[in-house]
Amino acid sequence: MSIEQRVFSGVQPTGNLHLGNYLGAITRFVALQEDYDCMYCVVDLHAITVWQDPEELRHNTREVTAAFLAAGIDADKQIVFNQSQVSGHAELAWIFNCVARIGWLNRMTQFKEKAGKNRENASVGLYAYPNLMAADILLYRATHVPVGEDQKQHLELARDIAQKFNNDFATSIKAKGHGEAFFPLPEPLITGPATRVMSLRDGTQKMSKSDPSDLSRINLADDADTIAKKIKKAKTDPAPLPESEAELEDRPEARNLVGIYAALAEVSPREVLGEFGGAQFSAFKKALTELTVAKIVPIGDEMRRLLADPDAIDQVLAAGSEKARAIAEPNMAIIKDIVGFIT
Ligand code: TYM
Repeated sequence: MSIEQRVFSGVQPTGNLHLGNYLGAITRFVALQEDYDCMYCVVDLHAITVWQDPEELRHNTREVTAAFLAAGIDADKQIVFNQSQVSGHAELAWIFNCVARIGWLNRMTQFKEKAGKNRENASVGLYAYPNLMAADILLYRATHVPVGEDQKQHLELARDIAQKFNNDFATSIKAKGHGEAFFPLPEPLITGPATRVMSLRDGTQKMSKSDPSDLSRINLADDADTIAKKIKKAKTDPAPLPESEAELEDRPEARNLVGIYAALAEVSPREVLGEFGGAQFSAFKKALTELTVAKIVPIGDEMRRLLADPDAIDQVLAAGSEKARAIAEPNMAIIKDIVGFIT
């Protein structure tokens, strides 16, 4: 059976959607819809691996959906939905819990970071999270997965799971007429100048939803004054901007701001340095503020407009979930048959 090309990606509804999510993931989602059939999922099952207030979870799910739409994802042509409306994600995740090895999960750096010192007290879901992520992708036999750099290890695990399933069930897959391999090995698409946007307060740390300092990130919902204040306070070093990219090597904060500018202006970092090399940060920050405000504030405004009608957003998710189920259900029936479940 030939495998069609399909893009799948997800964003957690855990609040504080920021410039890293936007530049590292959402802008890529928008670009890919020109060439691929795409599925963009609000991964609410992932969110509850850490306790979420139910009302906030509902709001945050709508907010991520609004961000997708405001950024330009066409929910009529592509599939925009929330994970929990398609039961196949949880079903396939269970099968993958039985395919993936404990040793594989023990290597996941994100679990170690998120669980922190009190690992005994982390939820079992947080530990098994990468198996659910593999299920998200493989339930639709997706072939391409646009993500930021921080998801690379999870994507490698998804490929290992796909491979092991194909091997473990090779005889059954063949006997049932599905060729040599049922799952594709999904390819990560980690592209563009902003695959790892760093904190504005510390250029060695990733910009993150969970950083306690709101000054560390630009949120998609921030207004112009807030953006201006955050960029003004962003950490820099005393030297002016360099002329070449090589000279950014040991200057994480400068490199990050140049990367953000490049991504927002859709030019290369080299071009940014061509314009601002030799300039003081004060001048560069002014230009960066203007550019960020021009690009981000309209998205925040559109998100607020969409969020004023939550029923309309819920309808988008319901329609998208129906389309997703139409792909998931036949695939899940085949997977159950391959595994040996009577259906
Ligand atoms: P999440 O919700 O943490 O982040 C959503 C997307 O944003 C990217 N991202 C960044 N990119 C650049 N710089 C940053 N500072 C930055 N911070 C976040 C992430 O890489 C991601 O692409 N496990 C995933 C969600 C997920 C998923 C999936 C993704 C669940 N199932 C299946 C792809 C396919 C996550 O927690 O992303």
